[in-house]
Amino acid sequence: MIKKLSKKLNHPLMSNNIDKDDRNVLISFLKKNPRLTASSKVLEFEKKWSKWLGTKYSIFVNSGSSANFITIRALKLYLGNNKKSEIITPPLTWNSDVVSVLENSYKPIFCDVRLSNLAMDKNEIKKKLNKKTAAVFLSHIQGFNGLDDQLIKFLKKKKIYLIEDVCESHGAKYKNKKCGTFGLASNFSFYYAHHMTTIEGGMISTNNKKFYDLCCMLRAHGLVRESKFKETRNFYKKKYKDLNEEFIFFENGFNMRSTEINAVLGINQLKKLDRNIKLRNRNFKFFINNLDEKKYFTKFELTGISNYAFPVFLNNTDIKKRDKFEKILKRNFIEFRRGNAGGGNQLRQPYLRKILKGKKINLKNTDYIHKYGYYIGNYPDLKLSKIKKICEILNSIN
Ligand SMILES: Cc1ncc(COP(=O)(O)O)c(C=O)c1O
Repeated sequence: MIKKLSKKLNHPLMSNNIDKDDRNVLISFLKKNPRLTASSKVLEFEKKWSKWLGTKYSIFVNSGSSANFITIRALKLYLGNNKKSEIITPPLTWNSDVVSVLENSYKPIFCDVRLSNLAMDKNEIKKKLNKKTAAVFLSHIQGFNGLDDQLIKFLKKKKIYLIEDVCESHGAKYKNKKCGTFGLASNFSFYYAHHMTTIEGGMISTNNKKFYDLCCMLRAHGLVRESKFKETRNFYKKKYKDLNEEFIFFENGFNMRSTEINAVLGINQLKKLDRNIKLRNRNFKFFINNLDEKKYFTKFELTGISNYAFPVFLNNTDIKKRDKFEKILKRNFIEFRRGNAGGGNQLRQPYLRKILKGKKINLKNTDYIHKYGYYIGNYPDLKLSKIKKICEILNSIN
């Protein structure tokens, strides 16, 4: 047994996400001595992204976290004074989802996730909805679709908005329609290791004109001149006659814009996205089929998947065995993250502990993933032969 483990495998979380072709495209763009602050390339990227996703509008920002923040701020403004104060929020997601809820003075209401798709359980969501619920902020984690008909219909009936965080799941589908097109708005991240990258970057997508308008202004300091609509600009111009129309800050916004360089990279990466999604899904299926189901949880919902990384969930919940598992991965140079999205249960993090003040919330599945759920890299140029070796190592761990 130990003999197999002595083989060292170099397996990083991500490899080569910006290739020679991307670098050449960037070099030839820069050689033209172009304007570099947000301009025509940003608009082009937004249009192409909207077309790829299937929404009317998209707003390119400097990170997925900024997309989260602007979205929740825009939601607050969109809802106006309707006194809805709670947002159903995942405990298994990146901290920026929770922070965006908190920083916009909403109370996050947490629901446990399902192991089969890592998204909040619809029955848990239903139990926690009430008159104060402004929205359900659902994260599609690691490429799994987190939606189903019952949830979508229920939210529609109750007139509760759905916001989709698709930062880890570009191209995942529900009923053949891309995740990120079902709610009021959706968020994507283009951080280096994601399905596609702009080095740092993010996108907000929506079909709602007013929501789009709010996001465009919020992305750039809250400046009214950033609105794409004449009627909005005229409204504020008439209302604040004492102000220079170039400098009307309609709300407390920040600068969360990106640049032309990032947009040029995004446009080029988008061309390769569908091909790369196919390769990652092929890798994922091969991985799951070769993993020992007695040792690892493998009953994931595969329909509509756009895999981001291989989930490795230990069936044996023994801390000593877990430590041994980590040692063997390190010894084989298999890079890993424990806790999955955002490091596991957000409620265990110091920034939330101080708010919860010891209040206990039962999040059994999230806690299991926090302690025994890992992910390792899956990238388009990963060879099946290497995946086989990785599985051999994983399957030989006792
Ligand atoms: C689910 C989720 N939401 C939001 C983010 C934040 O994206 P960024 O790192 O681009 O700020 C991430 C980051 O990986 C994420 O996984």
